[in-house]
Amino acid sequence: MTAEQPAGSGAEIENLMAEGRSFPPDPGFAARANATKELYAEAAADPEAFWAKLARERITWQEPFHTTLEWDLPFAKWFLGGKLNITENCIDRHVAAGLGDKVAYHWIGEPGDTRTITYADLLREVQKTANALKELGVGTGDRVAIYMPMIPELPIAMLACARIGAPHTVVFGGFSAESLVDRINDAQAKLVITADGGWRRGKPVDLKSAVDEALTRTPSVEHTLVVRRVGDAQPGTAMTAGRDLWWHEIVDRQAADCPAIPLDSEHMLYLLYTSGTTAKPKGIIHTTAGYLLGTSLTHSWVFDVKPDDVYWCAADIGWVTGHSYIVYGPLANATTGLLYEGAPDTPSWERWWQIIEDYKVTILYTAPTAIRAFMKQGEALPRKHDLSSLRLLGSVGEPINPEAWLWYHENIGGGSAPIVDTWWQTETGSILITPLPGVTTTKPGSATFPFPGIEADVVDANGASVPLGSGGYLVLKRPWPSMLRGIYGDPERYRATYWGRFPGMYFAGDGAKRDSEGYLWLLGRVDDVMNVSGHRISTIEVESALVDHPSVAEAAVVGKEDPLTGQAIFAFVTTKAGIETGDALAAQLRDHVAKVIGGIAKPKYLIFTPDLPKTRSGKIMRRLLRDVAEGRPLGDTTTLADAGVVETIRAGAGGADDE
Ligand code: WTA
Repeated sequence: MTAEQPAGSGAEIENLMAEGRSFPPDPGFAARANATKELYAEAAADPEAFWAKLARERITWQEPFHTTLEWDLPFAKWFLGGKLNITENCIDRHVAAGLGDKVAYHWIGEPGDTRTITYADLLREVQKTANALKELGVGTGDRVAIYMPMIPELPIAMLACARIGAPHTVVFGGFSAESLVDRINDAQAKLVITADGGWRRGKPVDLKSAVDEALTRTPSVEHTLVVRRVGDAQPGTAMTAGRDLWWHEIVDRQAADCPAIPLDSEHMLYLLYTSGTTAKPKGIIHTTAGYLLGTSLTHSWVFDVKPDDVYWCAADIGWVTGHSYIVYGPLANATTGLLYEGAPDTPSWERWWQIIEDYKVTILYTAPTAIRAFMKQGEALPRKHDLSSLRLLGSVGEPINPEAWLWYHENIGGGSAPIVDTWWQTETGSILITPLPGVTTTKPGSATFPFPGIEADVVDANGASVPLGSGGYLVLKRPWPSMLRGIYGDPERYRATYWGRFPGMYFAGDGAKRDSEGYLWLLGRVDDVMNVSGHRISTIEVESALVDHPSVAEAAVVGKEDPLTGQAIFAFVTTKAGIETGDALAAQLRDHVAKVIGGIAKPKYLIFTPDLPKTRSGKIMRRLLRDVAEGRPLGDTTTLADAGVVETIRAGAGGADDE
């Protein structure tokens, strides 16, 4: 972890804060809001009692818990002694309450096919799938990898795992076979659930052959279960006899009866891999009861979800946003949600607006990178559609620039829908810094205040709280129910990564400022993690992918500010002696990164340099490379082993090869 000052331009934020645009809650909205102002005081008075009360109220327990929290820093256990099944909370209890016919998901395939899944359908399909898992030898505690497109079988597979206590690890469908290998092996998954493919931009995207490639190097996997999604559109899906099984052949013939077994509050619900500051992704552990409480509570208070809402979180389930706010949070609240398989520009950039009009979507949750992409297409497109059903908008994944916030507010929210800018992480499990709609006066670009019960602070390099009006490192000073329980198989890395920088505090890796009124303004990552289109990618992951190519001797990667994707990947590459550099090699290297990690990690800029700037101890000085990438004046170069190097690189960067 670098000890540099938080990234982001201080001057810009000062300007924004000085402008003082603010949006007080609408009294009509406030009058029927799920959240109230009093919650902050109640939670602050006794956070543990606050969480305990809500856990009793909101969770259906098979056995009540006896202890709210056991905190052996940095290891937390919540709601000890309690037993529950998260799928009973997400499905059975709603059906028992007479909501069997309520729609859980309106699903829209990219080609235009649709399906409607009610809570009764979900209960039946989840039980059948759980029975199929059992038949395939999956038991409580066994890990299952899921690599699927956005089809209803994806949440069904996750819930089937949860029903029998088999932790799932969902791998985003855009990741490569190599990335899949690492995750399967780290998790030691026994089963892979996948599909022949999914639809993206009018074409089938083959997933099964990536699985086949991965499975040559994953000895723990015994079977694959394959949904037939694209079928004849992509002929030649190979099935290995004895290992690969079609979903419809195994699941369809199962009994629709698989009881929700009682599991401990701290039973591992899932692992989700995320980038850190080393090349090896971290398997973030989430457990059952605390995660359920965190996701369902924030889903209700932050999105103000009511029984008749049509809620659309447009993330992919392969990321934590989908886990928490497409699957567990909304289902726990018996919400009607929307699932869309494909790309926002297919068949045209009007797709989302058409969907919102057709389904009368009331709540939309998406990322700033998507909003900026829509902005680029102009406001005429949303204006062609009736978006008046929308009553609340959310943003997540990266700081939202005020310009995008205002565009979203005016053109999508009709100037009246409140916007919730929600800060959180894979590690936090649920939203931690956010406005409460109907309560908080918002300021475009600020995620505002910590959620009730969450104690966030901004500290200096020594861990001392900074005064209002200044910036520093974002930390959390108290455990919370949906927090990660560790890094799978690596408790030391967990301690060092999150709790090692500031004693007794969780360090999120983000820089933040607090204005004179205490509003929090997130400034981006201060470690070696980039945020590209709201997706976390570590510089070192991309560097090792580059160095893995036979022509490359050394590589350094930094994030460069990008108007569309937030950050773009900028790679500096030194080749081995005698290798001819040029556009052809640059293209080859980019493809190589896509093959090793996935398309999202492909560098946008790539330049060849004879050498990299290093300290005398041999550490690459990324700070200087960031200056070069941004075209800024160079910072302090006195610690460089060879000061001439940056000048050479800078001369070369003028012609950076931009894909
Ligand atoms: C960034 C996504 C500013 C931040 C839920 C964090 C944000 C990382 C916001 C986590 C926001 C997320 N404002 N930055 N509203 N939301 N981030 O694990 O840098 O994929 O540390 O979780 O995204 O990314 P992750």
